[in-house]
Amino acid sequence: MPTFSVLAPAKINLHLEVLGQRSDGFHELAMVMQSLDLADRLRLRPRADASIELRCDRADLPTDGRNLIVQAGELLRSRAGLPELGATIDLEKRIPIGAGLAGGSSDGAAALMGLNALWGLGFDAASLHTFAAELGSDMPFCLEGGTRLCFGRGEILEPALPAGIAGPALAVLLIKQPEASVSTPWAYGRCREMRGDFYLQSQSDFEQRRQALRQGPLLAALAGGGPLPPLRNDLQAVVAPEVDSVALGLELLRRAGDPLAVAMSGSGPSLFALYADLETAQAGQQRIDADLVAAGFTSWCCRCTGSGVSLEVGDAGL
Ligand code: C5P
Repeated sequence: MPTFSVLAPAKINLHLEVLGQRSDGFHELAMVMQSLDLADRLRLRPRADASIELRCDRADLPTDGRNLIVQAGELLRSRAGLPELGATIDLEKRIPIGAGLAGGSSDGAAALMGLNALWGLGFDAASLHTFAAELGSDMPFCLEGGTRLCFGRGEILEPALPAGIAGPALAVLLIKQPEASVSTPWAYGRCREMRGDFYLQSQSDFEQRRQALRQGPLLAALAGGGPLPPLRNDLQAVVAPEVDSVALGLELLRRAGDPLAVAMSGSGPSLFALYADLETAQAGQQRIDADLVAAGFTSWCCRCTGSGVSLEVGDAGL
């Protein structure tokens, strides 16, 4: 019986700029996303009874149709016209839940890739990308991974670095209060209330901002050509004043040694600081450890990686 194991990496936003409001209700974005080597793992095997059973080592995660893994399986078998397909999927959760690190989206992208292989459906990369975009704005990035420009509502991807240049060799200190959560629709809604009057309106204005990002100092720094500029996340500006955990966490991270940059990821509430290497990130973590513990934050050190979801055949440990 074939078994598959798929790694599903977390991401952070190195840039999140809200350009405007779209006619479909979503926001037009210009982002730079970066995969991390902090990853969940899915183990998949086929089953004969046409059910998609998800089991997880974290009891607080829904394993029914609310989970993007289950939605990905249902979408795949429906598009294949094979409703009789079934699978048992075991999810080892390492990415903090509800954190703005795309854990759910990455799991869903991993399920698309893994079940396509397990069920032998033969959907090509472009089809998987289309399915991913139907399920969530961040999901196409999670399939591809690495360092990418993400436009549209997040699903239009461009390489962020010239061919042949590896992603940034940066290390990351991530922090999150376990009980803190931010609803993504709320964060975008609040952004519209506070900044809607200043949203850009025309496609040419959007393109001008995209071009500024392509040619700006952030991408040059990530390609190894200069210092990292301050990071921009427009949702941070609306979330930080209203979510104590975010305001406090940013303050703590700024004191975590001498980070190259500090920001919120996605719509939060997880926050990160960037360092030149893992040792410096760990030293930064040590420096604020007592304050993190006192304020109830959990923290992780990891590295940026060039890979998105990745498939391993066999050895699913089942
Ligand atoms: O696509 P996803 O399911 O991740 O989006 C969750 C919610 O975030 C959307 O329903 C919408 O409220 C908001 N959103 C947005 N513009 C985007 C992405 C997400 O307004 N580009």
